[in-house]
Amino acid sequence: MAPPLDRHLVLVGFMGAGKTTLGARVAERIGREFIDVDAAVEPATGGDLRAFFREHGEAEFRRVEENETIRRLETSGRPSVLALGGGAVSSPAVRDALRSRAVTVWLPVDADRAWQRVRGTARPLAADEARFRALFDERQRLYEQVADAVARDADDVVLAAGAVRVETGALGVLGELVPGDGPVALVTDAHVAGVYGAEAQLALGGRLASTHEVPPGEQAKKLAVAEALWSALRLPRDGTLMALGGGSVTDLAGFVAATHLRGIDWVAVPTTLTGQVDAAIGGKTGIDLPDGKNVVGAFHWPARTIVDPALLETLPEHERRAGMAEVVKTGLLAGERLWELPEPELVRRCAAFKTAICLRDPYERGDRVLLNLGHTFAHALETASDYAVPHGDAVALGLLAALRLSGLPTDDVERVLEPRPPRVDRRRAREALARDKKGGQLVLLEAAGKPVVRDDVPLDVIHRELDALTAG
Ligand SMILES: NC(=O)c1ccc[n+]([C@@H]2O[C@H](COP(=O)([O-])OP(=O)(O)OC[C@H]3O[C@@H](n4cnc5c(N)ncnc54)[C@H](O)[C@@H]3O)[C@@H](O)[C@H]2O)c1
Repeated sequence: MAPPLDRHLVLVGFMGAGKTTLGARVAERIGREFIDVDAAVEPATGGDLRAFFREHGEAEFRRVEENETIRRLETSGRPSVLALGGGAVSSPAVRDALRSRAVTVWLPVDADRAWQRVRGTARPLAADEARFRALFDERQRLYEQVADAVARDADDVVLAAGAVRVETGALGVLGELVPGDGPVALVTDAHVAGVYGAEAQLALGGRLASTHEVPPGEQAKKLAVAEALWSALRLPRDGTLMALGGGSVTDLAGFVAATHLRGIDWVAVPTTLTGQVDAAIGGKTGIDLPDGKNVVGAFHWPARTIVDPALLETLPEHERRAGMAEVVKTGLLAGERLWELPEPELVRRCAAFKTAICLRDPYERGDRVLLNLGHTFAHALETASDYAVPHGDAVALGLLAALRLSGLPTDDVERVLEPRPPRVDRRRAREALARDKKGGQLVLLEAAGKPVVRDDVPLDVIHRELDALTAG
């Protein structure tokens, strides 16, 4: 099956479900062309659907619709977002094309609301309420059959487009959620194995081929650990590597999947807040070398990312704080107070935000750089302290600096993340910042929700902000 990045995103659902409005909005968010297939079919029918139905009958309309839909689905090149006509899924040929070429998302609507929205319009099938309701019942089964995901809003659609599934309790049904039917090798770290390993193994059932334990934390991202995995794996090309753990495990296992047999599928099951809102999304994988973090790696988008917010219950408090720094960063970029939401919703919204940016820019050649808000300062503090300053604390401080340079209030960051200036050698921090600041660029905010890349901030101003983050 084609990877999610290469597939069209197709919205299906009954008339009045909102496919066109939502489709256009999502297309803009993920940077793809939007095609309303219903509107594209219209010219072929002479522009008056009711007259066409009267003169040629519904069967002829379905034939025209089927041709147009399949032609659009089979167009190669950059994948698009398509909204299908409500009845297009009644064609077996369309259903086949959807299976092989698309991520198909069903937008359900209840019959009463749909009727309210379409009654009195020019749609030929919205003339008679009894017929409308009978058709509604008949079609539900077809939508369910073709759908890879069901969505209630734009965030759900974006997540589906990126093959990200956010579902409380998903750990218990992992076996059903892994795409394909080949064997699965499970990679997890020693802590996570003790808490969730048995449940994951049970849920994978007959598909589980082997389990591999790696050291917890950054120690997993070592060449020796990757090498041990390359040697131990006995997966065929249709096998799947599953990473169960935080960003360290998903970074490592994703990289091993990208390179084993020149690339096999992988599934990420993030267990930390950082993993669920950030690390396991977007396909960036990698390991560390003695002279730098993440210096060897690959872009390898997971066949699916399975996010179960219930797994965060056992997360130690300092790990949660680290994740909250990424949540606050996401909220500032989105211009919404996402950090105030209940945890499962906070995870869903932040995961969708990252998924959208990464779909727009999968190989980090453009907008994805915006995710670095606060990170230039954070990396400088981490490097200058030889990683004694934890990443989450460093990001919290980096956000302070970015907000001050943007001329925006810092109270949310202070209240939610409570950053404290660490003891760091200021000269080393300046040197590290000079090395990290790619092309002299800095991500700042014009306003909450309006990130910009700036290359005109004077160095002495940047240094002053960096110094202010440390206790000297
Ligand atoms: N690829 C990306 O886009 C990306 C983005 C952000 C961070 N990262 C990487 O992620 C790594 C950090 O990952 P992290 O912060 O998720 O932590 P981690 O994977 O290093 O794990 C931290 C600790 O938490 C434990 N743990 C994990 N889940 C748990 C749970 N549910 N209950 C109890 N304990 C649990 C682990 O065993 C470990 O001891 C860094 O290497 C960073 O470079 C990658």
